[in-house]
Amino acid sequence: MGITVLRGRTAKEISEDELRLLICAYDKVCIDIGTGDGKNIYRKAKNDKETFYIGLDPVKENMEETAVKIAKKPEKGGVENTLLVVSTAENLPPELYGIADYITVLFPWGVLLEGIVKPEEEFIAALRKAAKPRAKFEFITTYSANCEENMMETRNMPELSTEYFNGEYKDRLSQYGLTVQNVELFDNEYVKSFDSKWARRLAFGRKRDFYRITGTTG
Ligand SMILES: C[S@@+](CC[C@H](N)C(=O)[O-])C[C@H]1O[C@@H](n2cnc3c(N)ncnc32)[C@H](O)[C@@H]1O
Repeated sequence: MGITVLRGRTAKEISEDELRLLICAYDKVCIDIGTGDGKNIYRKAKNDKETFYIGLDPVKENMEETAVKIAKKPEKGGVENTLLVVSTAENLPPELYGIADYITVLFPWGVLLEGIVKPEEEFIAALRKAAKPRAKFEFITTYSANCEENMMETRNMPELSTEYFNGEYKDRLSQYGLTVQNVELFDNEYVKSFDSKWARRLAFGRKRDFYRITGTTG
């Protein structure tokens, strides 16, 4: 076995030992699930050299541009504290089990959105597998009947509100082993500080409510 990572545009397998060697010099590990084009973690990695950042997404092509940047020499924008992994959340490679101090899921869509927001045990279990005891998590999500009526109906999504996240959602996550500590509501301005194409599309599109849910595992 091994995990599939991107080295520039090339996907290659690395072993658990190789992964451990990469991360051992860092104080902390952050895993960003559904990282998309990887631009959000690329910037975090540039600004925080004490943390090793792992972006995970099943769509290799979307991460390629950032993977090419990461692989460059530092003076040309390359970063050593970042790795892009090709995988879904639900099939998390066992090599990533128990290594994360911090887990983020930013602006999820599709099955990942369902898994995080409903929430579904399979997805939350995957997050817990990646986490060290008492790791921190951060989810940011947005959708509404104004903008995504069809998606909400098709996927049978709950209506979002601070009441939902502080009530039913908090209870369900707690059953699955995650403790919600804070639920915050932001507008488009907040999301303008993110770098990914997806975040920018949302931030500069229609007026929206963005919910940021933070807490700990275990
Ligand atoms: C709306 S994009 C957001 C990307 C990124 N987090 C950002 O802030 O730009 C959602 C991402 O979730 C990924 N995704 C979809 N299903 C997934 C799954 N089962 N596991 C992990 N990622 C998934 C998609 O490939 C896509 O890149």
